[in-house]
Amino acid sequence: MSGLEFPAGFTFGAATAAYQIEGAATEDGRGPSIWDTFSQTPGKVENGDTGDVAIDFYHRVEEDLDLIKSLGLSAYRLSIAWPRIIPAGLGEVNEAGLAFYEKVVDGLLVRGIEPVVTLYHWDLPQPLEDRGGWTVRETSYAFAEYARVVGERLGDRVAVWTTLNEPWCSAYLGYGSGDHAPGRRSEAASLQAVHHLNLAHGLALIELRKVVTRPDARYSVTNNLAMAYAADPANPEDVDAKRQIEALQNRAFTDPQLRGFYPQDLLTDTKHITDWSFVHDGDLELINQPIDIVGINYYCTGTVRRGPEHSTEGTAYPGATRVESVEQPGPHTDMGWNIAPQGLYDLLVATHEAYPEYEIMVTENGAAYGDQPVEEDGGKRVHDTERVDFLLRHFVAAHRAIEAGVPLTGYFVWSLMDNFEWAFGYTKRFGIVYVDYETQERTKKDSALWYTKLAETGVIPE
Ligand code: NOJ
Repeated sequence: MSGLEFPAGFTFGAATAAYQIEGAATEDGRGPSIWDTFSQTPGKVENGDTGDVAIDFYHRVEEDLDLIKSLGLSAYRLSIAWPRIIPAGLGEVNEAGLAFYEKVVDGLLVRGIEPVVTLYHWDLPQPLEDRGGWTVRETSYAFAEYARVVGERLGDRVAVWTTLNEPWCSAYLGYGSGDHAPGRRSEAASLQAVHHLNLAHGLALIELRKVVTRPDARYSVTNNLAMAYAADPANPEDVDAKRQIEALQNRAFTDPQLRGFYPQDLLTDTKHITDWSFVHDGDLELINQPIDIVGINYYCTGTVRRGPEHSTEGTAYPGATRVESVEQPGPHTDMGWNIAPQGLYDLLVATHEAYPEYEIMVTENGAAYGDQPVEEDGGKRVHDTERVDFLLRHFVAAHRAIEAGVPLTGYFVWSLMDNFEWAFGYTKRFGIVYVDYETQERTKKDSALWYTKLAETGVIPE
């Protein structure tokens, strides 16, 4: 399987997000976000963990950028914390926040690493949530203003601008199932959030394009598209279950963003929940701004079939009826997610078929395992053989997709370092670099050494 070579210029990167790594939650004028509030609410995050300290990236920028450099990566995907830039969500801009990200971006460029910047990776300023959060359109306009402020400061330097990360999670886990901040459980609210996130994406692109000056800057959005299979492809009811999942998780975002409409079947499936009158005239044109790259986060697959009628209260799939998930065969990672490289191939091919004119990047892929360091040869080692195998097989699948004609130009491993895994706190380790949460010491895992060989040669090692 090894020896496969990626096209010249292929981007090998790693990804993180602000709240998961930075810490310094109250420093230098940062305001509270919904994740501060949520993680400080008892029972919401495992062990009561918070991002207050996280892995202290805020104070370790230089050494962490040196680490990225030493891994041989050509790009780093990071997110900017809105509450550092505009602490109240609206109004006053915090210079210290802009200066911090300027330091990060400049630190990357000086090391020859391209900054790939996500504007929203889930840390909504709490004052905006207090005014309705993503259920109201004012939040979309506030986001556009924030995008303009960041674009004005960093627009001459950032290589790729990504508006949103996984809006499915923000909308349905945040406002539907309540598993993520702000922890609301309302089907109607989650659909309002879908639309206002999409609107925020479009409005932000309009503002960015006015102020960005880097001539080769490119624009993107990252969705966690479902790769769903029907349990029995010959059974129309199973096929319909798959259709419902795809409407809610994939086309609810990609159709407005890339095509300028909401899928009719989504509107029909959810008509008992909402009449979608929050979609105003002209919104779809605003959402459907040109972009260059479709970002996909991929971890595992799902198989669905017709199930019994069930209550959809507190669901991440509002309006889905008689849909039942079938347990996926193992092996699974620590998240309980099945390992399915073929799913990545299928998803890349399907996305390319649906939206053939876009370049695609895998903006996240990786695996959580309970890694433990061992003392060896006078140093620490982390033998994460399962993660090496996971990455190897997924890179092979990505390579196959390229050979099949998918214009895949980059791949970002989630994650650069172990970090705060949202509702799971620090219990799940996704890093290719191990972090000792007591001392904040970083140790490259075997997967990091493996990935460096790939990044430096473009050839998949054993
Ligand atoms: C998706 C999210 O973007 C990221 O924040 C998260 O840690 C990983 N997937 C793993 O769950």
